[in-house]
Amino acid sequence: MNQEMDLDKIELYSAPPAEEPARQYYFMAKCREWVKKFISKNGRCPTACVTTFGCQMNARDSEKLEGILKKVGYETVSSEEADFVIFNTCTVRDNANQRVYGRLGELKGYKRRNPSMKIALCGCMMQEPSVIEKIRTSYPFVDLIFGTHNIYKFAELLCASFEAEGMLIDIWKDTDRIVEDLPVQRKYAFKSGINIMFGCNNFCSYCIVPYVRGRERSREPEDILREIRGLAADGVVEVMLLGQNVNSYGRNLKNPMTFAELLREVEKIEGLQRIRFMTSHPKDLSDDLIRVMKESRKICRHLHLPLQSGSDRILKQMNRRYTKEQYVDLALKIRREIPDIAITTDIIVGFPGETPEDLEETIDVVRTVKFDNAFTFIYSRRTGTPAAAMENQVPESQVKTGFDKLLKVVQDTAREQAAKYEGSVCEALIEEVNEESSRAEDTSRQMLVTGRLSNNMIVHVPGDASLVGKVVRVSLDECKGFYYLGTIRE
Ligand code: 5AD
Ligand code: SF4
Repeated sequence: MNQEMDLDKIELYSAPPAEEPARQYYFMAKCREWVKKFISKNGRCPTACVTTFGCQMNARDSEKLEGILKKVGYETVSSEEADFVIFNTCTVRDNANQRVYGRLGELKGYKRRNPSMKIALCGCMMQEPSVIEKIRTSYPFVDLIFGTHNIYKFAELLCASFEAEGMLIDIWKDTDRIVEDLPVQRKYAFKSGINIMFGCNNFCSYCIVPYVRGRERSREPEDILREIRGLAADGVVEVMLLGQNVNSYGRNLKNPMTFAELLREVEKIEGLQRIRFMTSHPKDLSDDLIRVMKESRKICRHLHLPLQSGSDRILKQMNRRYTKEQYVDLALKIRREIPDIAITTDIIVGFPGETPEDLEETIDVVRTVKFDNAFTFIYSRRTGTPAAAMENQVPESQVKTGFDKLLKVVQDTAREQAAKYEGSVCEALIEEVNEESSRAEDTSRQMLVTGRLSNNMIVHVPGDASLVGKVVRVSLDECKGFYYLGTIRE
């Protein structure tokens, strides 16, 4: 686990250290002094709410923000009517941005009622200059804004915002830094995300990620393994290795290492039972990785392999660097080698210039590969990306028709795939008490818990909170389309 520093041993009267993470711990100690004053004045701990938009990377970043808030003495709460609210934003599609603006409007009302409330914004959306301009003019009640590259400085920025008058903005264009050993507050006791790399070098023409998350940087394998060993010792049984393109892990390290090699090392960690990873770019997925997955007892039977489009013409325009045939060959090879694997994907509908014929090519891939699940997205024009400047943007009505058609095929295929496993027995990690069943007023109804299978499907089984965090054998009695109803086998 992290080698955290003890705040009680930090000398606050000397100047802040220059090196990291010592500098951030110094500022955590300073923030804690502020929190102590708050407690003596108000007779209670200050509350903090971290709201996450977007992907697993952001979810992990939010755990780091919560780790720092907790370390300095905040009580973390889920209500946004808190003393400190931070939105960790996403900008991959425009609807994510719109949701942030909507929610900010609500915060304005809360702040009117509690004028000492502090509001912070961070994450991908903040890396866009036009967003900062809009917040400056339309949301002047925001106190602190920072971006993706300097999130490790959160303690320092929090401290500065206690002292600042008006809006404090700190955005970096890029970074080559990775700061280790900062506190993390995990959402789940038994599973955890682990960043193995940051940024992306692929520049798919529709995607804003390389502009807001910067160039690809891999963490040192020793740091990753040390973190996972610590987590396993702390009761974590499942890890999700996170990166925009995990298949290019390790290329730029001083001592280069492949992703497959890293997985072999993670596999050896005692106590760890399951390994997942996200996301794989098809152009970089090696035979060695397929072999490691096949031979592994711990790597889950699930591969998320974004297709984006099945049309060679569109794939070229998207700068994906594979053809439909190459994708299909790869997916079918994986299915041959690992027959019980689930392959899921991302698909974009309405990329500039996409015709109904192009979409048919995509649908053809869905039918051939038989995706176990697919996330379908309507193309969103992201300022600054090459695709945004393309002239042949597709009319909304055509996109809508195509999207609905694709969605139906995707859902039918996923349902067919799920039905294949009905009646079988497999392992599930029980993740939580099923909320609906725990709320049920009819007490004769059984309490259910929700488990995740190795192939990422969900199963609900009778059981109680004592099962949470345990890997149990379940029979998948009834397939309900996208989840199963099952029972625990002793
Ligand atoms: N419009 C629509 N979907 C997008 N994605 C990335 N950028 C865009 C965009 N501009 C989708 C891709 C990616 C997923 C995380 O988000 O399918 O795999
Ligand atoms: Fe975006 Fe492509 Fe990088 Fe994925 S691989 S984050 S879609 S640029």
